[in-house]
Amino acid sequence: MPFTIAIDGPAASGKGTIARALAGHFGFAHLDTGLLYRAVGAKGGDPIAAARNLSTTDLDRRDLRSAEAGQAASRVAAIPEVRAALIEFQRRFAEAEPGAVLDGRDIGTVICPEADLKLYVTASDDVRARRRALELGADEAKILLELRERDARDAARDVAPMRPAEDAVLLDTSALAIDEAVQIAIGLVRRAGG
Ligand code: DC
Repeated sequence: MPFTIAIDGPAASGKGTIARALAGHFGFAHLDTGLLYRAVGAKGGDPIAAARNLSTTDLDRRDLRSAEAGQAASRVAAIPEVRAALIEFQRRFAEAEPGAVLDGRDIGTVICPEADLKLYVTASDDVRARRRALELGADEAKILLELRERDARDAARDVAPMRPAEDAVLLDTSALAIDEAVQIAIGLVRRAGG
């Protein structure tokens, strides 16, 4: 049986960095599921058709990390048919041996409800905005507004809203260096049997 780690949380909470570090440490596959929604949003045209025809080359576009791509992703992610079209790929990915780490918004609640470990990674709005502004070389105040708008939409949508699974471990990274957050996460995986 593969070991599955589900990591959810709001934008720029540190979940992607933690997911990558865990995958590297344990030799697991890693899927940044936000990239799927970003690729659908970036394709333009009918988002449902884009989701149904998504290919791996769509994930290689260089412009997917921008704030605009994040907003477009958040909008198409509220469309039930878009989400439905992406479920199968994510669940299949989660079966990778010897294990897989998936990060997103609905991994612990919808995609992998039976995951061996569920983490919900958060950080204060200010800390998240500062991190993302540094990463993108963008204005912090503008990024703060963008993150809040995106989080509000992601949490309020009817289908698969962003929220912690009941059995998720909450990890607040506001006051943690990335190394510290990763060490805590490694400890949680070990305790869960990984
Ligand atoms: O993780 P990210 O910032 O790259 O995600 C971009 C958007 O995609 C996010 O605002 C909401 C959507 N998303 C989602 O609805 N479900 C996921 N599992 C991952 C991302």
